Amino acid sequence: MLKLIDHPLIKTKLTIMRDHKTGHTSFRNNLNEIASLMVYEVLRNYKTKEIIIETPIKIKTTGFVFDKEIVIVPILRAGIGMVQGIQMLVPEAKVGHIGIYRDEKTLDTHEYFYKMPIVSKDSYIIIVDPMLATGGSAFDTITRLDNEGYVNIRLVCIVGAPEGVEKILKHFPNVVIYLAALDKKLNKDGYIVPGLGDAGDRIFGTK
Ligand code: PRP
Ligand code: URA
Repeated sequence: MLKLIDHPLIKTKLTIMRDHKTGHTSFRNNLNEIASLMVYEVLRNYKTKEIIIETPIKIKTTGFVFDKEIVIVPILRAGIGMVQGIQMLVPEAKVGHIGIYRDEKTLDTHEYFYKMPIVSKDSYIIIVDPMLATGGSAFDTITRLDNEGYVNIRLVCIVGAPEGVEKILKHFPNVVIYLAALDKKLNKDGYIVPGLGDAGDRIFGTK
């Protein structure tokens, strides 16, 4: 299922990110802020369980915690740019990492790093990457996590192309994809149109 998160704050911040004049500091800040806003929506249907706590006036009362661990899985590099924003709302979340880059010419993906925390396989897994273009990087990530037995997987991207969304939903119909915007298409170099350019380069100031 695809969920487009439509909110004026997200739209206006994404406009700043799309603008070629925006430098890496502002790009990164806006990315983290959008990630925070999106995760509020992503977590909406996660279940909580009751715990008993005592307040400062020595009264016991019922409180709530998430019923399972939450694990953020950024796809390196650009996914890193969303982690801090999510941790602002979910500081207890653990972080797994998967390193994947796509060959600039062939667009084939290559995994170079994988490390998950030790958590139960039914933990809430939130894969993050600003860009869902051909869907190759997200597909590899979901395949890897699926093969490892994780069952509660969500994919949170900022900008998606129809090609990427289609690829993920075709192979993983149970995965919910969250996007801030569904753009028109990919260009011949595999960039999302209109998109926001190379997310990794813009976050880290590498170009
Ligand atoms: C970018 C982006 C995604 C991927 C999306 O990463 O951050 O991971 O491309 O494209 P896809 O849907 O066609 O796989 P890139 O490979 O440029 O690596 P980087 O983040 O290290 O720059
Ligand atoms: N990766 C990016 O960083 N940008 C795109 O437009 C497509 C893939």
